[in-house]
Amino acid sequence: MTPALQSAIDVAAASSAYVIIVIQQKGGSGKSTITVNLAACMGRSAALVHGPVGEDEDSPVVAAGIDPQGSLERWADRVPEEKLPFDYVVTRGRLGELPKIKSQPKRRRVLVDTPGFVEVDPDAEWGEDPLGDGRVADALREVLDIADLAIVPITPEWLSWEPVEFTIERILKPRNIKFLVVINLHDPRDGDTQLEKVKNWIDERGYPRMAKPIRKYKIHSHAAEEGQVVTEYKDSGTALRAREDFMDLALCVEQAL
Ligand SMILES: Nc1ncnc2c1ncn2[C@@H]1O[C@H](COP(=O)(O)OP(=O)(O)O)[C@@H](O)[C@H]1O
Ligand SMILES: [Mg+2]
Repeated sequence: MTPALQSAIDVAAASSAYVIIVIQQKGGSGKSTITVNLAACMGRSAALVHGPVGEDEDSPVVAAGIDPQGSLERWADRVPEEKLPFDYVVTRGRLGELPKIKSQPKRRRVLVDTPGFVEVDPDAEWGEDPLGDGRVADALREVLDIADLAIVPITPEWLSWEPVEFTIERILKPRNIKFLVVINLHDPRDGDTQLEKVKNWIDERGYPRMAKPIRKYKIHSHAAEEGQVVTEYKDSGTALRAREDFMDLALCVEQAL
């Protein structure tokens, strides 16, 4: 390939690097789980198209954590990095790193795990930014500025609903950030009553959502403990169904971009 052609391809790739943030005001809805597993599924799909990434090459897919001591960082401590189908970075609130990664020529998808933002400004007027001051708030504003899509996880547990509405109405809509609500932690053993309730709640508000939920499987929390991602699950039974949910999410996100 001529250098000119290579650089044309690099430019084309750079202009299509999408930043996808996973955001929800409260913890426990699966932001970190979704970030790493979505990165794994997207990394796998990139490898199917472009082949494996060389040792010194940038991976097309990056998972990033922005908070100090965030779960991405704790999870990253447990994984052998050379085995992952994506790169990961932990910025610990340092500014400037993610915009730089977004513009690197080989990058195509940057998935950003965000911390909750419990410390919102209670006096912020409607329409005003409620994120307040501080390192994490600044880091959050920086990724919101470059985000192409926000994934907002919700659970069938009604306590998670109000923080979802807050995130969408106060953080995403004022910035015109496209978003997708994803139901996580649906326990197939619970039947569909609560699942239907949360679907109705989302639909009443006119929020776009993934049609099917990500199911709750023990294998996901065990895997997190061991630093495993869904693309490494074995090819049988529950593991396969558990992995399928995240593969479907990856397909759904590609459609939403
Ligand atoms: N689909 C799932 N099935 C089983 N456990 C899950 C699933 N999604 C998340 N978890 C577990 O729920 C807990 C909270 O998830 P986490 O990704 O840390 O949420 P957040 O980052 O929003 O705080 C973790 O223990 C995680 O392993
Ligand atoms: Mg987290």
